[in-house]
Amino acid sequence: MKPIYIMTSIVLAASVLSVPLVFSDDDWREYKQQSLGVSSISIPLYKEECGSCHMAFSPGLLPARSWQKLMSQLDNHFGDNSELDAETHKTISEFLLGNSADQSQYRRSRKLMRSLNKNDTPLRITEIPYFKHEHNEIPAKMVTGNEQVKSLSNCNACHAKAEQGLFDEHSINIPGHGHWDD
Ligand code: HEC
Ligand code: HEC
Repeated sequence: MKPIYIMTSIVLAASVLSVPLVFSDDDWREYKQQSLGVSSISIPLYKEECGSCHMAFSPGLLPARSWQKLMSQLDNHFGDNSELDAETHKTISEFLLGNSADQSQYRRSRKLMRSLNKNDTPLRITEIPYFKHEHNEIPAKMVTGNEQVKSLSNCNACHAKAEQGLFDEHSINIPGHGHWDD
């Protein structure tokens, strides 16, 4: 059984039986991450190489086929050149493919995957239907018209814990507009 389900079952069973629960901080952190976010697993090399122009996106935000395509055309990466030497390329590819959204049990990764057509290989997270659906009510003046945001690709402009893979509503703060209430 997947950890998230085991944890949920324990919590449910304990509440039915009125048994007090003792979890370590690490257990809770993992539970929260799985239910609210995407994997935060990261390697320093990834942050160094893929986090200099924008935040280093969690591998759990795109399926393996998308990472593969992205990594195969780094000479033209959204108009930039972000080519890597062969060894770095291999290490980063293995990291991305091994922790991609289609292999993840984290809830947000599963939602991203469920919204995606099997034949689609998006190069952008911001093109995935689940992503679009979650962000379609945000007025343009808070995004493109906002000097401190500019684009929805800048996750960490609004999601204070984006780099840790956490996107829950409590950590959303749109610059110049404050906390988000829907
Ligand atoms: C030289 C700068 C640069 C480097 C280095 C770089 N990127 Fe990018 N990346 C960009 C630009 C520019 C965009 C487009 C941003 C936009 O449209 O707002 C982008 C966009 C992306 C997106 C799509 C985000 C979205 O809109 O959903 C992903 C995914 C991505 N990069 C992954 C990577 C990975 C993986 C690496 C490391 C191999 C990397 N990037 C390194 C410049 C860079
Ligand atoms: C302009 C600010 C802004 C940017 C930039 C932004 N988001 Fe969001 N995001 C929001 C808001 C606001 C919501 C909540 C929408 C709602 O519930 O009405 C949200 C919701 C989400 C959710 C769903 C959260 C939940 O608990 O259901 C995820 C996942 C998410 N964003 C991921 C991302 C990722 C990944 C990026 C970057 C590729 C990103 N966001 C960029 C503002 C932003």
